[in-house]
Amino acid sequence: MVSFLIAYATWSGNTQEVAELVEETLLTQGMDVKAHRIGLDPLPDPRRFDAMIIGSFTWDQGATPDEVKDFVADVGYKPDNVYVFGTGDTQFGGDELFCHAAVKLAKFYDSRYEPLKIEQSPRGTQEKTVIDWSKGVLQHWKHSHALRY
Ligand SMILES: Cc1cc2nc3c(=O)[nH]c(=O)nc-3n(C[C@H](O)[C@H](O)[C@H](O)COP(=O)(O)O)c2cc1C
Repeated sequence: MVSFLIAYATWSGNTQEVAELVEETLLTQGMDVKAHRIGLDPLPDPRRFDAMIIGSFTWDQGATPDEVKDFVADVGYKPDNVYVFGTGDTQFGGDELFCHAAVKLAKFYDSRYEPLKIEQSPRGTQEKTVIDWSKGVLQHWKHSHALRY
């Protein structure tokens, strides 16, 4: 069983909805999952998990929220296996700034899997995108570890 930490930040609930859908999908696949709400829950130790999934909304013209920056600093090192998702809104600066925090986090963590970008709430047509991405994360993890060992 692969264990995943899902750390996410949310203000109005969209990113939390994505986090819950990712969690549900991984649980359905028989994985071990711990959800962590950034800024609220006690700091987890990513070393205790096989992979970390981090989710953030984007703020203020492509900015990463302060609580996410604090979380990254508090964790204090770059875990190896990081997957990133984000929610955003194309009305705030078009494609260039859409989910920019997620794009920046993926770069920072050298994520080897394309970050997931969701427009506002994932409920409805984007639900399948989240489920497919979550299954893809698991496949990616299994594939990269099968190659290594
Ligand atoms: C003041 C403000 C600025 C925002 N700036 C951006 C932005 O630059 N890029 C983007 O993709 N979304 C932007 N958004 C949209 C939010 O990221 C989006 O609504 C997100 O889903 C909120 O996440 P939450 O519901 O988890 O808090 C902005 C929203 C607000 C209110």
